[in-house]
Amino acid sequence: MNRQNKGRAKTLSMDKKTADMEIPKNETKYSVTHRRPSMIIYVLIVVLCVITAFNISNVARSQEVIPVFGTMLPISALTGVMSSFGNLCVIFIVVFYDKLGFYTGLILLISQFPVMVIQFIKQHSSQSIPGMFTTILTIVAIILIYRRNARINELQETEMEALRSRQKLSQRLFEQTATALVNAIDANDTYSHGHSLRVAEYSEKIARMAGKSEEECYKIYYIALLHDVGKLGIPNEIINKNGRLTDEEYEIIKQHPVMGEQILSSISEYPYLSIGAHFHHERYDGRGYPDRLKGEDIPEIARIISVADAYDAMSSNRSYRDAIPQQLVREEIVKGAGTQFDPEFAMVMQHLIDIDVEYKMKERKAVGELAGKDELDCDEYRSEISDGILINRNITRIHMKSENIGENGNYGRGPAIILFDSLDGRVHDDERTIKDLIYFE
Ligand SMILES: [Fe+2]
Repeated sequence: MNRQNKGRAKTLSMDKKTADMEIPKNETKYSVTHRRPSMIIYVLIVVLCVITAFNISNVARSQEVIPVFGTMLPISALTGVMSSFGNLCVIFIVVFYDKLGFYTGLILLISQFPVMVIQFIKQHSSQSIPGMFTTILTIVAIILIYRRNARINELQETEMEALRSRQKLSQRLFEQTATALVNAIDANDTYSHGHSLRVAEYSEKIARMAGKSEEECYKIYYIALLHDVGKLGIPNEIINKNGRLTDEEYEIIKQHPVMGEQILSSISEYPYLSIGAHFHHERYDGRGYPDRLKGEDIPEIARIISVADAYDAMSSNRSYRDAIPQQLVREEIVKGAGTQFDPEFAMVMQHLIDIDVEYKMKERKAVGELAGKDELDCDEYRSEISDGILINRNITRIHMKSENIGENGNYGRGPAIILFDSLDGRVHDDERTIKDLIYFE
């Protein structure tokens, strides 16, 4: 986590990189480095192989003398030097590259033994005894080093496992706390129920389509989920006012980003959370609030939430209006690109709308309500209609039950089904609306 985010509220000229939600990556105090063999180990192995081959061939003719820098030296002396250098290389690779180094060293050291033993037996020469002794000691040394390394790795792995489970636990705790907070916001705000959850989902979709990583998307989801947490500090009668807000009430509502920032900045473990709450009402043209930041001075995550927030506000039902048709919402997003919204994320949102052919990105409650009335009093054709049932790719079963009425039960009225398509998913008979919403039945 980027702890530099602390105190960001007071220094709005904050370094943009921090605010720009270059989302901090998870930090771990410990890490087990599984060393990969580098070029060095391959070079060392080649050197060791050459030394071993050299030693094996020379041990057999250890009685000979060869010229080295103008001096005649017994070949066994040179073999001894090379053996010592080889043993040093073996110890080095076992220390730094445990498994590969251990097995390579072991094989190379052991491969020298048969020649030494044969020489000892054939020539009855004691010259090879110190070499054998050194080789045995080196083998013991590398076994001890290898075992110690293995034990350290095992302990590190256990520690990592404990750390991972602690992280999971704190992540679960965080998710549950965030959900509890969101439930509290929603319980307070009867008109925009489910808003936080939808904004979180849309923000995550925008982020994913904009190429953010999985970890960034996860964080963006929770930042967006809590973007309106400041509404907890606004009086209920203003939040739930049925009708237009007065200028004074609007000014109070406008305080919710700062309140949200204050609430979330106390969660020091997740300092980036407050960014969404604080800046989601800033506008790209600098006419937003609370700090009137402009363009890319607004943290990136807040620019994403701003589009998602506006999309949900338009595509959800409100007490005073139905959801605005998807096509009109799209037009509003296009109009707002570069003024209200960051053009990049506005474009991503348009694309999400375009591919949302099944209107999944709509207030779920609205879809639920489409089931409408379950009892219709049929009279004239279209005299009473339900809100309809949303048909999707799955099979939709519709059951209708009608009873004859009249004195002798001989007067029957049967329900009719209208199959229609409309941008707002509702039945219309007004000519202008039919045209606007591309209504077809
Ligand atoms: Fe808000």
